[in-house]
Amino acid sequence: MKKIRCLITAGPTREYFDPVRFVSNPSTGKMGWAIANAAKDIGWDTILVLGPSALPDIDGAETVRVVSAQDMFEACKRHFDSCDILIMSAAVSDVRPKFRLPNKAKKDAIDLRPELERTPDILLELSKIKKNQVLIGFAAETQNVMDYAKDKLERKNLDAIAANNVGAAGAGFASDMNKIDLILRGGDVVDFGAGTKTELAKQLVDFLSERFFAE
Ligand code: C5P
Repeated sequence: MKKIRCLITAGPTREYFDPVRFVSNPSTGKMGWAIANAAKDIGWDTILVLGPSALPDIDGAETVRVVSAQDMFEACKRHFDSCDILIMSAAVSDVRPKFRLPNKAKKDAIDLRPELERTPDILLELSKIKKNQVLIGFAAETQNVMDYAKDKLERKNLDAIAANNVGAAGAGFASDMNKIDLILRGGDVVDFGAGTKTELAKQLVDFLSERFFAE
C-alpha cells in the first residue's frame, strides 16, 4: 500500500521590522502540531512546517522550523510536489513591513507609520499549481464564521476548510480546546463539535483518511 505523504503547517509567522520587533499573532501552533501527531500516528509520512513555537519536534515526523511567511512559502513549495495532502493550519501573518532595518531602531527614530505589504497567500499560490493534492484550509474568524469559510474554500479552490470561531470562549488561539466544523467542497458540513485539539486532530485525520484515501 502506498504511504500517504502529508504536509502540515502550524503556528504563527513573524514579520520583522528590525532585529527585535515584528508583526505576528497569538497562534501557538497547537492545532497543527496535534494534526501532525495524529497524521504520523495513522502511518502517514508527515512533514510539519512550524512557525515560531515553543512546541517540540515530533518523533517520527520531519519538523521544518520557519520564521516568516516567505520562509513558510519556500518550505511548502519544496515539499508540495511530493505530497498527497496539504493541511494549512498555520496562522500566516497577512502583512509584513515593506522594509526591514538591519539594526534595532532607536525609540525616537521608530517609524510610526511603517509601510506594510501583503505576504504571499501560500494556500492560494499552491492551489494554482496543484496536481492531485488534497488541499485543506483553516478559517479562523471572529464573526460570520461559516460564510467567510465557504468563501475561502471557493476562492482558494480547496477540498475542505475547517472553520474555527476564534472569538468563542474556550476555543481558538493558544487554547488547548477547539471547535471545528469541516466544510467540504460541495457544501456538506461535518461538525466535529468541541474537544481538545488532540481529540479533534485525530477525528479530522481519521475523517480525511477515510474520505480521500480509502482503498
Ligand atoms: O484568507 P485567510 O487568511 O483567512 O485564509 C485562511 C487559510 O489560508 C488558512 O488555511 C491559512 O493557513 C492560509 N493562508 C495562507 N497564506 C496566507 C494567509 C493565509 O496560506 N498569507
